[in-house]
Amino acid sequence: MAKRGSWASQLGFYLVAIGSACGLGNLWRFPYIVGENGGGAFVLLYVLLVLIVGIPILIGELILGKSSRKSGVTAIGALTYKDKHIFSGVGWVSFVLCILVLSYYTVISGWVLHFAIQFLIAALGIHQSSELSTLGVLIQNGSLQAGLASVHLLFCIVVVVKGVQEGLEKFIGWTVPVFGALLLILLIRSLSLPSAANAMRFLFYPDFSKLTLSSLGQAVGQVLFTLSLGFGSMITFGSYMTVEHIPTAGLRVAMIDTVISLISALCIFPIALQASNAPLADSGLLFEVLPKFLLEMQGGLLIGLAFFVCLYLASLGASIGLLEVIVSNLVDRNKIERARSSWAAGGVAWILALIPAFSGSLLQKLHVGSKGILQSIDSLIINWILPLIALGIAFAITLGLRKKVKEDLFISVDKVESVALYPHWQFALLWIIPILIILGLVLQTVHIFISK
Ligand code: PFF
Repeated sequence: MAKRGSWASQLGFYLVAIGSACGLGNLWRFPYIVGENGGGAFVLLYVLLVLIVGIPILIGELILGKSSRKSGVTAIGALTYKDKHIFSGVGWVSFVLCILVLSYYTVISGWVLHFAIQFLIAALGIHQSSELSTLGVLIQNGSLQAGLASVHLLFCIVVVVKGVQEGLEKFIGWTVPVFGALLLILLIRSLSLPSAANAMRFLFYPDFSKLTLSSLGQAVGQVLFTLSLGFGSMITFGSYMTVEHIPTAGLRVAMIDTVISLISALCIFPIALQASNAPLADSGLLFEVLPKFLLEMQGGLLIGLAFFVCLYLASLGASIGLLEVIVSNLVDRNKIERARSSWAAGGVAWILALIPAFSGSLLQKLHVGSKGILQSIDSLIINWILPLIALGIAFAITLGLRKKVKEDLFISVDKVESVALYPHWQFALLWIIPILIILGLVLQTVHIFISK
């Protein structure tokens, strides 16, 4: 069997973990969820949940990966509680989630690619900006969406086939810095718009009356999704780790991801407020309001190009992360060779992606409630299934992983604070996180019944 991969350097781990964490969840999902939930109070709730829920689970997943040197399904399935393997179901559901998320993530990445190409064409003067097509037109064109999704998946497969060091680390090693630089340029431009002050007020002034019964559940789901938790991805990335002190690494990755989400909101809200006088509160608005506004703004073509290239690099890094997790599970469990696993996993994701891709045309009649297929899958997975899986993983780490293993990897002589933090970490995993997750799910359910 091929030798198990490992990162060539500490930096490699950070780049890939950050590249996988920072994706559409930060730049597309976070702003519209904040918009839907009324701004500042939700942002505060979100940041608190990153600290209380996100960081402890992230550290737990990395520790589980590093100690087992296995990917998600195998690492979770091997844990025993009172001599019984009761966690394997959790691992399998997280594996299926990876495939489902990759499939609809691929379609949205295709939209991003479409707009990046459109802005490039307009910037090169090949087309007039007024001739560029809108999201509405794209959604009705199933074949175009399927084509874009295929190109996107092909990029991901080519990188993942090459392996951890030659593929992931090398490729994401350059996309993350370019993404960071583009995001900073956009931030400076957005903050110079007249609407920036209002955007800041909306984002950072907490008005608790704006929170609804579903806000807690939505915030938990967003924290898990954006930190790539509950998918087994951080378990897999932890399994390639060599020396680093894990709690420090987990803390850094979570902090960087949170800052990127806040910067993304600071880039997008001034533009949204300037364009439509209303914050983005719908999943499609980013692709509707932003391009239209940028095309009319002076210098908007280049900013639009920078924005969509930035968004595309982020979604590519995250998609590669998702595919890597699936492939690594197939290689570990079924001993299927990396190249074959990559093509097989990519193929299955492609077939599933056809459903959301054609949901605005051939499959138009498929609706769940008032939402389209894509939004329904997104909210079902992120607001409901992911929290339950995270709950299972939290229990698996506290009850199934030996105390000695956890102490050895959590506590470090160089970091005195790690001794004091260890019991708090365990307490959070066993009590606080389950209570918050269950409360979030119960309140969401009540919200559905009340609003009927
Ligand atoms: N964290 C990514 C985002 O915010 O877009 C989504 C994601 C990527 C989830 C990779 C899971 C994963 F393995």
